[in-house]
This record gives sequence, structure tokens and C-alpha cells, in this order.
Amino acid sequence: MTDSVDLDALESELLAKVKSANDEASLEEVRIGALGKKGAISTRMKGLGQLEPEQRKLTGQTLNALKVKVSDALSERREVLKKQMLDARLVTEHVDVTLPVRPQQQGTIHPVSQVWEEIVQIFADLGFAVAEGPHIDTDWYNFGALNIPDEHPARQEHDTFYFHRGEDGKRKVLRTHTSTVQIRTMEKTAPPIRIIAPGRTFRCDSDQTHTPMFHQFEGLVLDTDIHLGHLKWCLLEFCKTFFEADDLKLRLRASHFPFTEPSMEVDVNCSWQGGQLKVGQGDDWMEILGSGMVHPNVIRAGGHDPEKTQGFAFGIGIDRLAMLKYGIPDLRAFFESDLRWLRHYGFSSLNVPTLAGGLS
Ligand code: PHE
Repeated sequence: MTDSVDLDALESELLAKVKSANDEASLEEVRIGALGKKGAISTRMKGLGQLEPEQRKLTGQTLNALKVKVSDALSERREVLKKQMLDARLVTEHVDVTLPVRPQQQGTIHPVSQVWEEIVQIFADLGFAVAEGPHIDTDWYNFGALNIPDEHPARQEHDTFYFHRGEDGKRKVLRTHTSTVQIRTMEKTAPPIRIIAPGRTFRCDSDQTHTPMFHQFEGLVLDTDIHLGHLKWCLLEFCKTFFEADDLKLRLRASHFPFTEPSMEVDVNCSWQGGQLKVGQGDDWMEILGSGMVHPNVIRAGGHDPEKTQGFAFGIGIDRLAMLKYGIPDLRAFFESDLRWLRHYGFSSLNVPTLAGGLS
């Protein structure tokens, strides 16, 4: 039979157990032992039915009070244990942020990221800002506004990835060059404009020197009195700094792009000694970029008056620059994520390129 002495003893026993439980698992055992289906309190509650009415009332009240007391003690203890666990974790998981970086860093900076950063540094020093545009663009920004109307043969040279036609009957494209950003910048900014626009470009092409996705950067300078001499100086300055070759020479060859007039392809001098390419020395030539004076139609499409505004533009392959500067033979390997390749050609993350501290 359940009497009050028995319940007093049970109370002290349960509260003592709660107190001595040292982790959440043993506390849970105590809870089940007291309040679980077959727990000490629950069984006694079930037995109430067999008592005389008077006795049932008294014992019922005591049991209820006991249940509340034990539940409270359990929650209180649970909070204490939680806090203790957290304190213990905070001690063991403590990180000393003042410790020096460990020398054995695992990751490396991809050559494309490195060269991208080098280019931004050089042009920032010449007063250029960085502009951006979307990878998926309209036919207008990729072709039409750049003086490449429908059915123009230059469209076929671009190996374009087209999307399905939209409701308006027009097809979007994965931009085939960063020249899209020329127009987007002109729409947003009044001259003088001096920007570079590095980013991803896409063409349906793949071999040792072509991948369906590659990187370019566009340059655009617009003002009232810009001429070819500015273009040449600017590119020469860039190439000398980028290839770290003070005697580097440029050769401008007449070419054709619909969005520039006149258009030029630009070569740098180089040498092949013992099969090794050196840019900026020797008598051989290597093509590195396309450029020209921005076509009046393009300036008009960008919302400006070609009678008042003129300037130059150029487009350069970032991956190609990385291959030339760091002697990397195959473009496809850039995007295969082979760890051995990344470790070999990657750069230390602590070696951030700056003009003052050195580019590579
Ligand atoms: N958009 C051209 C290309 O991808 C490069 C270029 C840019 C040429 C700007 C002239 C002026 O081949």
C-alpha cells in the first residue's frame, strides 16, 4: 500500500538520483524510471483506483505534487547539464585566431583567378574601373548593338550557344564575347568611360586551345579626343607590366571586327628557345588580342553621339594570357579540376598579386 512515508522516501530517492545524473543520457534514465510508463510514480498513480475514496484523494494529491516536483527538478538539472556541456565544448573547441597560418596550406589559387587579379591590378593602376554583364544575354547586346545585324556572316564565326525562342520569338544566347558589356556600360554611363570587363564567355568549340567556356576581358575607353595612339600606348603598357618584360614590342595588324573601325589584331614579340616560349623577347610574333576604334554605330547603339564621342575597345583571352605567361600547354586541363594539375600550376593564396609587391 502507498502511504505518505513511502512517498517521502520515494521523493528523496528520486531527487537524489536527479541530482547525481551527470549527463543527459543518465538523466533520461531517471526520468523514465520515475515518470515513464512503468516508472515509480506512474505505477503508483495507476494503483490509485484500488484505494478507498478518502485515501485515494489524499494519495492522489501527494502523487501529483511529487510528479510536479520531480519534473521541475529534471528540467532544472537538464538546463545545468546543457550549460556544462556547452562550457566544456567551448573550452575544447577554442580557436586561437592570433596563431600564424600553418605553412602546409592545401588549396591553391587557379591560374585563371590569378591572372584575372593581375589584369585588374594593372588596369586599376591606369585608372580603369571594373564592369560586369550577364552570361546569358540577348541577341541585341551580343550582336545587334555591336553592328552585327541579322544574317551578318560574322555571326557564323562565333559558334554561338542559342537558347530556345521565347514568346517574343527571340533567342537568348550565352554571350560569345565580353563585348556585350561595352553597350551595357555605355547605356549606364556618360563618357568619359574607362572600364575593363573580365568574365566568362561561351562558344561551341573544343580542342587544345579552345574550350566551350573560357574567359575574356573587354576594355573600353570613350571620351572626346581618344585616338589610336592612346590604344597602342595602353596595350603596350599593359603587356609590358603583365609579361614583366620592359623591352616588349607590339605589332598592330589590320583586321576586321564589325564593332570597330579601323580594327587591329595585336601581336607581341616572342622567342622559342629550346622549345620554350618567352614573351617580350626575340623576333617571332604571337597574336594576343583584338582591338580597334569603336564603330560609330556601336556608340549610337549605346546611346551616345559619335560626332562628339570616340574611343577604343579591345578583347583579350584571360586563359590564353595565363597559358602564355605561365607556360601551360593545354587549355582543356584548366577546367578538369585535376588536383595534381591544380597543385602544379596553382598559386599560393597568400601571394596576392599587386603592382607594388609583384604580380606573380
Ligand atoms: N570581341 C572580340 C572577340 O571576341 C574581341 C574584340 C573586342 C575586338 C573589342 C575588338 C574590340 O574576338
